[in-house]
Amino acid sequence: MVKKIVVVGSINMDLVTNVEAFPRPGETIHSLGVAYLPGGKGANQAVAAARSGASVRMVGAVGTDSFAQTLIDNLADSGVDTSGVLRKEGHSGLAVITVDRSGENHIVLAGGSNKAFGYGEIEGRIPWDEAHAVLLQNEIDWSVTEAVMREAGRRGVPVWFNPAPALKLEPEVLGLIHTCILNETEIEVITGAKVSGADDAVPAAGRLLEAGVRQVVVTLGDKGCVWVGREGEPVHVPAFKVQAVDTTAAGDTFIGAMAAASCEGKPVPEALRYAAAASALAVTRHGAQASIPARDEVERLLADAGR
Ligand code: RIB
Repeated sequence: MVKKIVVVGSINMDLVTNVEAFPRPGETIHSLGVAYLPGGKGANQAVAAARSGASVRMVGAVGTDSFAQTLIDNLADSGVDTSGVLRKEGHSGLAVITVDRSGENHIVLAGGSNKAFGYGEIEGRIPWDEAHAVLLQNEIDWSVTEAVMREAGRRGVPVWFNPAPALKLEPEVLGLIHTCILNETEIEVITGAKVSGADDAVPAAGRLLEAGVRQVVVTLGDKGCVWVGREGEPVHVPAFKVQAVDTTAAGDTFIGAMAAASCEGKPVPEALRYAAAASALAVTRHGAQASIPARDEVERLLADAGR
């Protein structure tokens, strides 16, 4: 049986405006351009895993607005099984994103359909027996995320959690997480530890391991990423040097690519290098799902970089 990556999470239409520099509070500025592009942390991670060759099912919801079908079609065109996607009356998830000249972004979410379903509506759409792992983020109702974590625990399916947007987690919930992938801001919100590079990422990740998480990956932007697990020494993978134009979905690309690599049985250092290369390519392109590379592109970058 081919094992699946199951993503239970958000599906958004991203309304992206590009600006020279972010406006200050109270300031009105002109944008350099505007685009409607499929996004959502859950959907982006699903697309990243599928473009890396994994078998992926997306579980979530779109609305009944004009964006809904585009969002489903974009997932399907990327090879994601969309049979787990519900339609809920109302608007689809919307993210209002501003990207500045350096590629940094500000994102405001309007949850819509992502927040309009309960666990009972999606539990039958999760293929538990075929799941290699279930990927969760924090853009759907927390009660759904927590219910999926608990059921995954009962069934022995590893939970990969990306706590984004950042949130505080009860110690008991941390014990339900197998793999936690998060950035510097998110690990600070959860552990209280300031992380600015690989050296301080290791002790901060250690706090999550003490709370019950099996493995932690801290993504550090242009400083690369750090893996810390219960067994073995920490692994630091430096970032690939690229010219960033838009960092939107860089973390999502990393997570989906890493999940796909893990599903294939790649050892941790190799899976990290693969994920780092995928996210490096993503930041060289505009948009969320539009920026996520296919497996052959990632392998070419790895080969060209001799990694
Ligand atoms: O991580 C990037 C994503 O965050 C965007 O695609 C946007 O939809 C928000 O969910």
